[in-house]
Amino acid sequence: MTEIPEHLLKRSQARRAGGDAPAEAGAAAATPATTTAATPAVAAPKAEVVPAGPPAAPPDIPVVAAYKARKKIPVWAMATLSILPVWMFMYLRALTPVTAEATGPLGLGAEIYAGNCSGCHGAGGAGVAGGAYAFTENSSMLTFPHIEDQLRWVALGTTAYIDAGITIAGDPNREGGAHIAGSNGIMPARGGNAEYTDADILGAVCEERYVLGGAPEEGEEFELWCSPESPIFEALEAGTATFENLHEVFADSGVIAIGSVPVAGTTAEG
Ligand code: HEC
Repeated sequence: MTEIPEHLLKRSQARRAGGDAPAEAGAAAATPATTTAATPAVAAPKAEVVPAGPPAAPPDIPVVAAYKARKKIPVWAMATLSILPVWMFMYLRALTPVTAEATGPLGLGAEIYAGNCSGCHGAGGAGVAGGAYAFTENSSMLTFPHIEDQLRWVALGTTAYIDAGITIAGDPNREGGAHIAGSNGIMPARGGNAEYTDADILGAVCEERYVLGGAPEEGEEFELWCSPESPIFEALEAGTATFENLHEVFADSGVIAIGSVPVAGTTAEG
């Protein structure tokens, strides 16, 4: 317990034994008539003096003072923390890719390309040295100035062309050199089976021309074949047209026949 300092003890003992301190004695002397009354009045403070010392608690050590002075966690913090799991859920949801939500030929084409073409042609259309061609740097537009020739090539594949005696893929006057069929390996036929619809092939080709190749997404060809509102893509999806009769259904738009047999590629001029 707190020790009473020596000098306070002595003073209090002195008061009890020897009566009032000189100043108090003087005061008492000045009012002799009230001596009896004055004595307890003066004694009262005396009684207070002794207990007044000990209760004065020592100042807190710095750590305790800091603890008492710290900011308390507000009550609403608990409510806020309790919704943390909800927030986590929303955050994780936001991280999942939304590719499935992209619509139109380019949305479908990105999926088809990633799942069925990138294995040979490379992610991002980078191509493989000595193997499948790259699609970067507008390559598809150079090989196939008309999209119909590219659709036919992908649907029928290298072997059908070689068998039909057609030795060049696409434009024979291709800037940078014609692509000789079979010279870089065999492009497997993608059409004519249940695995790919005509809309799938159009989507992949749109991906190769506009996304991987980097052609500007505008102009007549883009609007007609590859834009989100493409009427040809819609017709292929709905089954109201196929690669066999597109040129008839869209005769007004000057569509070239795609068909189901290899045909020599057109040049940029026509
Ligand atoms: C098994 C490997 C393989 C797969 C899968 C593949 N390709 Fe090819 N592709 C090739 C090869 C090899 C060539 C070159 C053929 C040649 O030289 O005759 C080629 C050529 C092409 C060409 C001609 C490019 C040019 O500029 O001459 C196009 C267009 C094409 N592929 C599109 C596709 C599409 C679209 C898909 C997916 C639906 C696909 N390919 C999947 C191997 C593949």
